[in-house]
Amino acid sequence: MKIVVIGGTGLIGTKLVGYLRERGHDAIAASPNTGVNTITREGLAQALAGADVVVDVANAPVWEDQAVLEFFETSTRNLLAAEAAADVRHHVALSIVGSERLPDNGYFRAKVAQEALIKASAIPYTILRATQFFEFVGGIAQSATVGDEIRLSPALIQPIAAQDVALALADVAVSPPANGTVEVAGPEAMPLDELGRRFVRGTKGTLKVVPDVRARYFGGVLSDRTLTPGAHPRIGAIRFEDWLGQSARAAGR
Ligand SMILES: NC(=O)c1ccc[n+]([C@@H]2O[C@H](COP(=O)([O-])OP(=O)(O)OC[C@H]3O[C@@H](n4cnc5c(N)ncnc54)[C@H](OP(=O)(O)O)[C@@H]3O)[C@@H](O)[C@H]2O)c1
Repeated sequence: MKIVVIGGTGLIGTKLVGYLRERGHDAIAASPNTGVNTITREGLAQALAGADVVVDVANAPVWEDQAVLEFFETSTRNLLAAEAAADVRHHVALSIVGSERLPDNGYFRAKVAQEALIKASAIPYTILRATQFFEFVGGIAQSATVGDEIRLSPALIQPIAAQDVALALADVAVSPPANGTVEVAGPEAMPLDELGRRFVRGTKGTLKVVPDVRARYFGGVLSDRTLTPGAHPRIGAIRFEDWLGQSARAAGR
């Protein structure tokens, strides 16, 4: 199959293109760096010619509320129009578990808007909602740092390795469209402050992690149900500690 991966040069996209090629598919990494831009439409029609499936794992370059909303809306509209013209049979998009449960967060609102455009289009689709990537945990800790403390909610989180997200997407991309949403999460749910503590320990950090039920997660207050998946998600194989150990060895720590 010809499978175009929009955002195919990013964290998830690079791995996904690799897995699809290993399985013998003609996987194309499409992004501004390879001459394909879903905002300006540069190179889009050419990239999609003859494509069976498009997987959208692009990300906004700027995460300010209005900018991120405009990115996901414009990119998705342009992409769906180009797919309709190219007679693409399956649109796959990567979204986030619980997006609608954190309306105070502009990034989550933008992902909900992206999903709404996909559901309203005539193109058969599958939305894969993933929980937070292990690779994103450092960013969560950084955003919650005040002085020499990291203040994190004790609400549950069930993060996942980017590798497991890419494997799930590879399976979705070669399956028939679900015309619905499926979820994927990591193998272990834990309080977010505990995840922060494990991250600090694993990266030999010195900051103290303090549990705080009022601590905001990128603008929103969390409950145990905000970031965790519903019934029967696909579960990734890689555990956080193993990923941390591998990352530390790769970084020479
Ligand atoms: N972080 C999390 O925990 C999490 C959880 C669930 C879901 N997600 C979702 O996962 C997706 C992928 O995230 P990621 O971390 O892999 O992203 P990333 O590493 O930041 O990669 C972003 C990709 O988007 C491409 N891109 C940017 N502007 C573009 C444009 N105008 N046209 C086409 N491509 C464009 C980039 O291309 P260049 O390299 O050419 O700039 C790059 O390939 C996102 O949609 C995100 O919402 C994230």
